[in-house]
Amino acid sequence: MGRRWGLLVGVLGAVWLLGSGQGGRQPAETAAQRCFCQVSGYLDDCTCDVETVDRFNNYRLFPRLQNLLESDYFRYYKVNLKRPCPFWNDISQCGRRDCAVKPCQSDEVPDGIKSVSYKYSEEANSLIEECEQAERLGAVDESLSEETQKAVLQWTKHDDSSDNFCEADDIQSPDAEYVDLLLNPERYTGYKGPDAWKIWNVIYEENCFKPQTIKRPLNPLASGQGLCVEKRAFYRLISGLHASINVHLSARYLLQDTWLEKKWGHNVTEFQQRFDGILTKGEGPRRLKNLYFLYLIELRALSKVVPFFERPDFQLFTGNKIQDAENKMLLLEILHEIKSFPLHFDENSFFAGDKKEANKLKEDFRLHFRNISRIMDCVGCLKCRLWGKLQTQGLGTALKILFSEKLIANMPESGPSYEFHLTRQEIVSLFNAFGRISTSVKELENFRKLLQNIH
Ligand SMILES: *[C@@H]1O[C@H](CO)[C@@H](O)[C@H](O)[C@H]1NC(C)=O
Ligand SMILES: *[C@@H]1O[C@H](CO)[C@@H](O)[C@H](O)[C@H]1NC(C)=O
Repeated sequence: MGRRWGLLVGVLGAVWLLGSGQGGRQPAETAAQRCFCQVSGYLDDCTCDVETVDRFNNYRLFPRLQNLLESDYFRYYKVNLKRPCPFWNDISQCGRRDCAVKPCQSDEVPDGIKSVSYKYSEEANSLIEECEQAERLGAVDESLSEETQKAVLQWTKHDDSSDNFCEADDIQSPDAEYVDLLLNPERYTGYKGPDAWKIWNVIYEENCFKPQTIKRPLNPLASGQGLCVEKRAFYRLISGLHASINVHLSARYLLQDTWLEKKWGHNVTEFQQRFDGILTKGEGPRRLKNLYFLYLIELRALSKVVPFFERPDFQLFTGNKIQDAENKMLLLEILHEIKSFPLHFDENSFFAGDKKEANKLKEDFRLHFRNISRIMDCVGCLKCRLWGKLQTQGLGTALKILFSEKLIANMPESGPSYEFHLTRQEIVSLFNAFGRISTSVKELENFRKLLQNIH
């Protein structure tokens, strides 16, 4: 009850603020206010306010998450950066040094990660070993090998389940390589202008349900024309991703580039150009708000998938037993922290209502999102392609979790779900993608401070 009232007051407060903002523009609007006007106080998508999210993220989640992402399990990401662009041919590979991605030498990556057949549990691992051994020996014991092979097939089948929101990257392809994410950080590369616009244009124009015709509020029960809540949400996720990437590029801008030294750091001007309400004709602050929306969606997905990671046979396998156990502990600590966040987004407002219509919408959602993951193969700058693929795959995995019916959240009595599966690549992208958004939220705090000195 209390929360409802809080929300109502919050919404009314926000409406009032909007109204007064439009009525008489305050002359003394500061540079910080012009960027952050939409991200203070209550967010209309959940019963929560930005300050709570900031505190939770910046002090409780962010440091531990960074720690986890530095571990071997999460730093090596297998990706195929040589897939042809399915939509057009004229990709100008920008020849900039900063776009280069340096793949790992084969001896850098722990064997436990490289083992192709490895899934994530000891049980599956020993089954596969048995199977491989049987094959090596040309085993005559057909019944055993058939059984194990069936089990292996079963594991593989889970991987190309129809729940997937992303086109599976063909990581078995000889073109796929391991990349050390710590050595190839996402930062300013100079990839912008027409080539980069083309990518975002395709993403927005062709794949997003456009927002111009939004008539009904974010309430699935309200009827009306225009965009429904899901399509609007889809648009906002993409916009949030775009915003997040731009925050990173502004926070790790190439400030100094001499042959002696390169220096990356915050560029406030760049940040303003992308997010200042006046410079962007109102778009910037909305984008930042969508960044929080994306954050809450991924946060919710992580809290829903906790039972999967709690399974005793789940491991973050790299082959180093002690390290692996420690990492799992840290992972669970982070997940429990996330679960304790009191103001989760309610995904049940999505795809509610008429079952048939909801399923069609869900399928649409999935197809559109898959298209976006394929467009990432058209990004000319390899560094941007790497992080674009990782972040769309991470978001795709979050959506898969949110909309999977195999995973019932918040029902401890149902026990851990054994039907739901994630591949290593999905796990790595899910946490790294969330790590990026978590970093963005943290960086906003830095930009807020930097902007306070400017008018
Ligand atoms: C910051 O970004 C702007 C473009 O937004 C650029 O003109 C300026 O040179 C950059 N500043 C530095 C120190 O690199
Ligand atoms: C996917 O993208 C292609 C090329 O932009 C477009 O022709 C197609 O309609 C898109 N499909 C969906 C479901 O968005």
